[in-house]
Amino acid sequence: MSETALLRVENLSKTFALRRSFSEWVTRRPGEVHRAVDRVSFELAHGEILGLAGGSGSGKTTLARMLIRLVEPDGGGVFLEGQDVRAAKGRDLRDLRRRMQMVFQDPYSSLNPRMQVGAAIIEAGRVHHQPGSEDPEAFVTHMLDLVRLPSTIARRRPRDLSGGQRQRVAIARALAVGPQVLIADEAVSALDVSIQTQLLNLFLDLRDELGLSILFVAHQLSVIAEVADRVAIMDQGVIVEVGPTAEVFRSPQADYTKTLLASHPHPLTIVESTQKEA
Ligand SMILES: Nc1ncnc2c1ncn2[C@@H]1O[C@H](COP(=O)(O)OP(=O)(O)O)[C@@H](O)[C@H]1O
Ligand SMILES: [Mg+2]
Repeated sequence: MSETALLRVENLSKTFALRRSFSEWVTRRPGEVHRAVDRVSFELAHGEILGLAGGSGSGKTTLARMLIRLVEPDGGGVFLEGQDVRAAKGRDLRDLRRRMQMVFQDPYSSLNPRMQVGAAIIEAGRVHHQPGSEDPEAFVTHMLDLVRLPSTIARRRPRDLSGGQRQRVAIARALAVGPQVLIADEAVSALDVSIQTQLLNLFLDLRDELGLSILFVAHQLSVIAEVADRVAIMDQGVIVEVGPTAEVFRSPQADYTKTLLASHPHPLTIVESTQKEA
């Protein structure tokens, strides 16, 4: 897999200092630290969707944000096509961030509620000199078309859209800068199940049409089961198990994965029953 890996993550770590207790402060003992992400390694192949699952507080968001240095790692490495993300500065770092775009749970994280959708999309494309962005109308129509929204949406503002439409716009804006990798952090978690399924299908289509690689972070195993080729299971800052999604969910090896599966409605059953309805 190494030769085909687009993104390589090696021993990535992040420790947060906990607030010192009064006695620690009085005695000048160092405060305790919390290992949010502890020497995590994985690879993401070209055109692959890798799921990242795990309970709340297991370190998924910290890991995802370190990939583009929204959180600065304190150990390990991130390499996009061999290029060292942690060593990048200035223009190189901006270009790496263009090539790895994040989609958040809350679309307002990347959208200005007062800006028209079309303006937000063209602005993103122009800042990064994307091909076609010299023709705003065609560029915006194309981006909206990629996320299956009509061009009439261009004149609307994010707050006038439904939750699902708003997330599609956030994805269109991310696509407008020409990424190779999407990092989706709980991108469908706040949506109703039927809207979730539509968005998961969109992610699958985008992977096929654009050859995108996607790191798909979600705490809901049913979501991961619908979308991910492989899944990495995270617990207390560590990846405890990684493998093809169906295999991991059918015969989990790690105790934590077994516990996680037992506490969710079985993800593979959900996928099979939704496929029957379709
Ligand atoms: N900025 C921060 N300062 C201190 N602790 C943090 C910070 N961000 C996250 N953490 C802690 O790191 C752990 C992992 O959090 P997070 O990455 O958000 O997990 P997840 O996304 O899996 O729910 C949690 O214990 C959380 O409280
Ligand atoms: Mg999170």
